[in-house]
Amino acid sequence: MIKILMVCLGNICRSPLAEGILHAKLTEDNFFVDSAGTAGYHIGSQPDIRSVKVAKNHFIDISKQKCRQFCVTDFDNFDYIYVMDMSNYRDIIALAPNENSKQKVHLILNELFPNENIEVPDPYYGGDDGFEQVFQMLDKSCEVIAKKLKQNS
Ligand code: 4NP
Repeated sequence: MIKILMVCLGNICRSPLAEGILHAKLTEDNFFVDSAGTAGYHIGSQPDIRSVKVAKNHFIDISKQKCRQFCVTDFDNFDYIYVMDMSNYRDIIALAPNENSKQKVHLILNELFPNENIEVPDPYYGGDDGFEQVFQMLDKSCEVIAKKLKQNS
């Protein structure tokens, strides 16, 4: 089983979308996709209604997801940890118990634009079009990730 974890700050806007999008592209039984937040503000909540809406517009249902906080055991439980921005990256790396754990952490848009360190902007305080833009970025990056994981599995 190959396990992939999507991480953002709140686990209600970006990482739930990333989870839903990658899950839709990896329908085979040997993949498990989850998401978590570095912060604990929204534990137990559904994703932000604007993320639910934009996913639904693209025929993906993320409404059943429940927010949770990243925990150190995730380093053992997951093979790949994709973060949305540099702040997430620093927060997760700071929790890594060893070098092997650090190697699992990647900025998600580096899959699409290698080494450019481009961030997925936080759409939380913006309008609905921000969510559609985030969806498009994540969709393109998840396409690359899914192809790579399928080739390697
Ligand atoms: P996310 O967006 O990290 O994409 O889930 C945010 C959601 C909530 C907050 C910040 C970012 N917040 O401050 O509550």
